[in-house]
Amino acid sequence: MADLLTDRLPLFPFRGPDDDPFTPVAAADLRRLDGPVTRVRLPTGGWTWLVTRHADVKRMLRGDAFSADLTRPGFPLLRELPPQVRLGNRGGFIRMDGAEHLRLRRMLNPEFMIKNIRRIEPLIGDVVDDALDALAAAGPPADLVTAYALPVPSLVICHLLGVPYADHVFFQQRSATMLDRGADSARVRDAILGLRRYLGTLIEAKRTSGDPGDDLLGRLVSDRVRTGELETGELIGMAVLLLVAGHETTANMIGLSVLLLRRYPRAWQRMRDDDQAADTVVEELLRYLTIVRNGLPRQATRDVEIGGRLIRAGEPATALLSLANRDDEVFDDADTFDPYRQAQQHLAFGFGVHQCIGQPLARAELRIALTRLVRRFPDLTVTADPARLPRRESSIVYGVAELPVTW
Ligand code: HEM
Repeated sequence: MADLLTDRLPLFPFRGPDDDPFTPVAAADLRRLDGPVTRVRLPTGGWTWLVTRHADVKRMLRGDAFSADLTRPGFPLLRELPPQVRLGNRGGFIRMDGAEHLRLRRMLNPEFMIKNIRRIEPLIGDVVDDALDALAAAGPPADLVTAYALPVPSLVICHLLGVPYADHVFFQQRSATMLDRGADSARVRDAILGLRRYLGTLIEAKRTSGDPGDDLLGRLVSDRVRTGELETGELIGMAVLLLVAGHETTANMIGLSVLLLRRYPRAWQRMRDDDQAADTVVEELLRYLTIVRNGLPRQATRDVEIGGRLIRAGEPATALLSLANRDDEVFDDADTFDPYRQAQQHLAFGFGVHQCIGQPLARAELRIALTRLVRRFPDLTVTADPARLPRRESSIVYGVAELPVTW
């Protein structure tokens, strides 16, 4: 009986309309939703509550009524349990709950404080300028994803962690494979094992060295590993999480942002002329594009009411950030991209205990990467029809796989 009922539910995740890469859910799918908190069918079998309103998403993510531990039976999975979880998720605190999650997250807090990110802004600027020089030297045409959007955050995170510059291609390839839902599991497993082995060797070298280095991994080795607060295996897991969470996300935001900004000459101009205005535009880009499109999966640990529905202990629920960020109750004319909007209330970085720890870094990277690109190439043009660009629908973070440009 339950299965028959589940079969009739709309299948999640949804796709955007074919002709519009910026709209998260096609109108036909929206019409099939039975209210703001409703059940949808999952491709792995079973179903999940879909929570779509801004206030309800905040309520869901705020407290401790939901677990983020995807190894729990009945957790809402969009694909079978990824191999990295079977290989052990030590240190990967994005999927941990309670005190264990907090213990690891707190060790990283100082690294991502705004004042510390300000200190590395010149380094971000250098990485961006080098990438722009390389782009100019190679000459038009170019694929902006491979030539700019991917290498910038990848090099920044390598610097931040203390991973040698020469190894960034190795990282970029393996973390892209890790996130690609289309990649076969043997490739994903090899990518993860390769990353963990490499980081293990690097951390061990720092641990046994007289000078572990003044970078994120070096500081954690000195302050936490040597004091016995943190195990090497946990630090490896934290580093893998930072590499993956910190580079594909920002890369996809850069690519999609350029595609969108080229449609809005006023916004493009604001990015060029005014640094403070650029911060406002970046917030609106984060809201409008909401690249974690398929939302945040959770499982209720106790009975809880969300948006007038009772979600029972053990039931799966998904916070659909992309629709919450288009909620007319919070954002006037929410489906319109408005470069003058004060969009700070958006939920693109999630909410609650797991809210993105890297957001000050992401904001700085986006502002610097986008303003300098616009200033260096004011006449940059996208040469492909936006509706026909290959989309990363299968990846955890949404984006375009390529962006052909000329100038
Ligand atoms: C525009 C770029 C980014 C977006 C849209 C983004 C989005 C998110 C979201 C939605 C979450 C919440 C996940 C959940 O609750 O299950 C998250 C968590 C996280 N993000 Fe980001 N992120 C971005 C950039 C970064 C960067 C640059 C870093 C670090 C270098 C980073 C590191 C993390 C980490 C470590 C977590 C887990 C936090 C926790 O579980 O306590 N992210 N991010």
